[in-house]
Amino acid sequence: MSAERRKQGAGVAAARLRGVFDRIDHVGVAVEDLDASLDLYRDLFELDVAHREIVEQQGVEAVLLDVGENHVELLAPLGADTPVGKFIANRGPGLHHVAYQVDDIDSTLATLDQAGLRLIDRQPRTGIGSSRVAFVHPKAVGGVLIEIVQPAEAH
Ligand code: CO
Repeated sequence: MSAERRKQGAGVAAARLRGVFDRIDHVGVAVEDLDASLDLYRDLFELDVAHREIVEQQGVEAVLLDVGENHVELLAPLGADTPVGKFIANRGPGLHHVAYQVDDIDSTLATLDQAGLRLIDRQPRTGIGSSRVAFVHPKAVGGVLIEIVQPAEAH
């Protein structure tokens, strides 16, 4: 493929994905102990807790803390055999994913699929606060797990 054609191809893909990565919703952090992490984020950083919930479908207990209009999401695994449990076993606690907020997750997933990005979830599943979420495979996007989230209601 010529440089010119590569350039055109990248331009087409960029145009199709315009609007998908407009807003960061939250940054997800894998933690071993939720209460110890709240000592840091809530008590030392003085962030307000917006929400706390056990999300069985994702195998986590999650806490959302307000950071301006956006959030930090603390994720503690419900068991060692959950995705976050395995993540911590392999890599230790720390940055887990970056979540982008969209208005229409169904059309966004179709757009990402058309752009050739490998999706972990082809259909949205239920996230924290009854949001609809789906994940893009980190190997498709430079090693960072990307979450797409459509909030249950407009913020
Ligand atoms: Co998340």
